[in-house]
Amino acid sequence: MADIPQSFLGLLVTVLYLLTGVSGETLSMFSGEGDDVSLPCNNVVYPNCSSTTWNYNRNGSTGTIQEITLGEIKVDQTERAERLSLGSDCSLHVSDVRAEDVGLYICQQFLTETGPKHGGDAPVHLSVLTISSTTPVTDLKPNVNMTLRCSLLTDTQHGTCRSRFSLSWVPNPGTNAQDTQDSSCDITLTVTLQKKDNNRKWTCTLTEEGNVKISIDFTSTFSDIEEKTTDSDDVISTVPGTSNAVKLPISHIMLFVALTIMATIVTIHTRRNRPPKALPPQAEASGIEIHVLEE
Ligand SMILES: *[C@@H]1O[C@H](CO)[C@@H](O)[C@H](O)[C@H]1NC(C)=O
Ligand SMILES: *[C@@H]1O[C@H](CO)[C@@H](O)[C@H](O)[C@H]1NC(C)=O
Ligand SMILES: *[C@@H]1O[C@H](CO)[C@@H](O)[C@H](O)[C@H]1NC(C)=O
Repeated sequence: MADIPQSFLGLLVTVLYLLTGVSGETLSMFSGEGDDVSLPCNNVVYPNCSSTTWNYNRNGSTGTIQEITLGEIKVDQTERAERLSLGSDCSLHVSDVRAEDVGLYICQQFLTETGPKHGGDAPVHLSVLTISSTTPVTDLKPNVNMTLRCSLLTDTQHGTCRSRFSLSWVPNPGTNAQDTQDSSCDITLTVTLQKKDNNRKWTCTLTEEGNVKISIDFTSTFSDIEEKTTDSDDVISTVPGTSNAVKLPISHIMLFVALTIMATIVTIHTRRNRPPKALPPQAEASGIEIHVLEE
């Protein structure tokens, strides 16, 4: 009989432990740049979210930004507020994730506006996977060496880069590629582009102990300057709907230019052949005769 209260007490302690969140369990969430992510709040009290507050500690900074206060979006930077919303389960939804979103998000519960915090914190770390070409995208074409960099941006205190996680290029990009690993959070790939690589997708994948977590793509699209010049043939303006007056065919323009040049030559020639009145003889030989004539 004496066992029952004790096990009941044990259960009570466990339940309180879970409810207050003193377990200190911090969730880690990952998102590709430009993707959407939902950060779960696992200490919700009122299902209508009116007790939920989300705080945010930007990477390394000590200041806290209150993003959601008692179910209402509260961020000052309106541009960022537009990318935030509260899910029906009081999760914090971040759309079009950016590097600046990296940090620690904390879900808290307040039963009244002025009342004390209810229970413990539900913290979530957000890390962001980015991919970019260090070769200007306008330079991408066959025989050019393209260098791609893939990085996992994490909170300074997080330390995921030092354990468990690794980045890789999947599938293996091929034999003409060089893969370098600067750290487990930063890899680069250098590849000599070939014709068939136009619009090819290059994928960087984040794995946690061998399991794929997320991946991000970069598409190598060749600059189509050469195609454009052949496409547009001899029409100067290809803007649809412009009047015919603007759409001067090149042949007409060339004709106009040629006529102008010819007229100029004829004028100069005629002037030169006029008797050089009062022209000093040495000027003729010095190659400045046109200048002298026009005075
Ligand atoms: C949300 O739910 C709580 C508890 O059920 C209630 O007291 C509160 O009025 C509700 N708030 C809104 C905005 O509906
Ligand atoms: C591209 O990289 C390869 C291998 O490193 C090198 O041999 C080649 O000269 C590079 N080409 C250009 C255009 O830089
Ligand atoms: C976080 O801060 C550290 C140190 O200030 C910096 O090295 C790192 O690049 C930052 N990460 C992001 C994603 O801004």
